[in-house]
Amino acid sequence: MSAKTPRSSSVETRHLVMPDHANHYGTLFGGTLMGWIDMVAVMVAQRHCGREAVTASVDRLNFLSPISVGDHVLLRASVNYTGRTSMEIGVQVSRENPYTGEVVRATTAYLTFVALDENKKPVPIPPVEPETEIEKRRFRNAILRVEANRNLVKKMREEMQSSSGPDAAGSPPQDK
Ligand SMILES: CC(C)(COP(=O)(O)OP(=O)(O)OC[C@H]1O[C@@H](n2cnc3c(N)ncnc32)[C@H](O)[C@@H]1OP(=O)(O)O)[C@@H](O)C(=O)NCCC(=O)NCCS
Repeated sequence: MSAKTPRSSSVETRHLVMPDHANHYGTLFGGTLMGWIDMVAVMVAQRHCGREAVTASVDRLNFLSPISVGDHVLLRASVNYTGRTSMEIGVQVSRENPYTGEVVRATTAYLTFVALDENKKPVPIPPVEPETEIEKRRFRNAILRVEANRNLVKKMREEMQSSSGPDAAGSPPQDK
């Protein structure tokens, strides 16, 4: 399978924050932003692997700066790293005041997607080939996150398999 550059599948999009996107403080509701992040990232994943891809995990999201009704939200997303069947997509989110042109970074998110075949099973994807220095740095940094996440997922799966008490997944906590 031939390698693909991050540029070949990158996606840039923007949204105008309307009142129905806001929380009761008049700033962008975090859940709406998370949906936009997931949406732009899946488009990158689909373009990179040329098939269906599902979100496997979302790294911790820090909302660094509030986004107001009337602001533009810019989302730039590209492939940082590829494994055998999974890929990390980085999403940079900025807010822009459309009248002054001021742009402020709002958050950065990292999501892992897994490509699926016709039977919904993980399937190999083209490797990513970073070209620029920034892309190469993102690739190196992603390796650290992927390794840490792999250990975490392994531990969580082991714990889920061994837990069969009333607090196991699917059972509501019981009064003691
Ligand atoms: C994601 C999913 C397809 C993985 O299936 P699986 O049978 O557990 O896959 P495997 O254990 O063989 O792992 C396949 C790859 O996914 C990666 N992966 C699996 N779970 C992961 C997780 N939680 N976080 C990050 N990567 C993960 C593995 O590291 C592996 O990567 P590699 O092939 O690049 O080395 C499966 O857990 C799933 O369907 N989850 C639900 C997805 C979903 O509903 N998303 C929301 C809507 S899109």
